[in-house]
Amino acid sequence: MAAQGIVDTALSGLLPGRLRRGLGLWRPQHDMADQFGKVFIVTGGSSGVGFQVVKHLAAAQATVILATHNMPGALKALSDIQRDFPHITERNVIPMYLDLTSFKSITQFVEAFLAQGLPLHGLVNNAGEAMGPPGPGADGALPNHTLVTNFFGPFYLTHLLLTFMSECAPARVVNVCSALGEYMGTVDWGDLTGERLSKSDPLGAYNASKRMTSMATRELAARSRGSGVDVFATHPGFAATNLWHKSQRSYPAARLFNVVEEWFAQHPFYGAIPILYALTEPSLTGRTGRYFGGPLMCPIIMNARCGSYWMGESRDLAACVRLYDAIVAIVARVVGGGADPRATAVTASATAAQ
Ligand SMILES: NC(=O)c1ccc[n+]([C@@H]2O[C@H](COP(=O)([O-])OP(=O)(O)OC[C@H]3O[C@@H](n4cnc5c(N)ncnc54)[C@H](OP(=O)(O)O)[C@@H]3O)[C@@H](O)[C@H]2O)c1
Repeated sequence: MAAQGIVDTALSGLLPGRLRRGLGLWRPQHDMADQFGKVFIVTGGSSGVGFQVVKHLAAAQATVILATHNMPGALKALSDIQRDFPHITERNVIPMYLDLTSFKSITQFVEAFLAQGLPLHGLVNNAGEAMGPPGPGADGALPNHTLVTNFFGPFYLTHLLLTFMSECAPARVVNVCSALGEYMGTVDWGDLTGERLSKSDPLGAYNASKRMTSMATRELAARSRGSGVDVFATHPGFAATNLWHKSQRSYPAARLFNVVEEWFAQHPFYGAIPILYALTEPSLTGRTGRYFGGPLMCPIIMNARCGSYWMGESRDLAACVRLYDAIVAIVARVVGGGADPRATAVTASATAAQ
């Protein structure tokens, strides 16, 4: 795997920059602009694709908040980054606790972040799980662990930060979706919180969470047009990470993905490329609502010019509006109703984005 990265860096570096980018071979080590003075939050940055995103942003001199529910993992990630870049310290990569399955933890994370007095130029909603434990998230507010981790938690986090990000504009929200979700994900309109799915179909819950992320990304991009916050969807391709290994082994689909991954998955570095591109490429400013990722059969090439992978219900704009409004109402209800300032923040930023 490491050899794959070294060979790729050497070979892609042989090509002239314009030709490399024209061929879809955008590479952070060659093509990413200097990020000095920029501040980004990357959720789930201690492993897999998120780790690569954090590492390359830090290498480009950004300040990165590594937001995770696994603080030992975050500290290990930092020391792994320091092996390659010894000058990077906890002032450049700042580990902060965030459990996306707890609305209280999300609120506390945002308060702690804002108290630091840093600006915010980008939020990467990367953290996720494939087939997580049955039952609700940590605070018991919503019934489906996977839907809360992958969709409801990041949705709430985004809306708590949206107004502040528009004050720091230009800024970007990059949501990590999935080709699996685009091909197979469906919305159960009678069960948006996934109560039935948590008992019956864990892979269905993952696919639904990614479908809903994709639809909400599209709608948020439309609503926040002109606010200075650009919103992008990405898919990282099939990457060799912990995602499937951490899935509950009792699920046959998890065992199957673990075997297939050993043979066919790419290095997580390639999964990070569309995310880094969507987050930092200067020419994308104002071009909100695009979807970046590699073609399924050749994910090391990024299909940056096509820029649209929306499929299924994500192409139905009326369905995206309907879903977005329904999720705002659910989140506002679970964080305390209209009188609660956190609920007001969600509905206010959703309304302001319209
Ligand atoms: N790998 C693929 O083939 C693939 C394909 C399509 C999309 N994706 C998406 O890519 C993203 C990154 O996944 P990955 O493949 O890099 O897997 P990964 O290595 O397992 O990364 C997921 C990260 O999210 C963190 N996380 C999980 N639950 C969390 C929570 N409740 N609060 C805060 N952080 C939490 C994990 O921390 P712990 O490990 O400590 O739990 C981990 O660091 C996910 O959204 C995934 O759905 C991956």
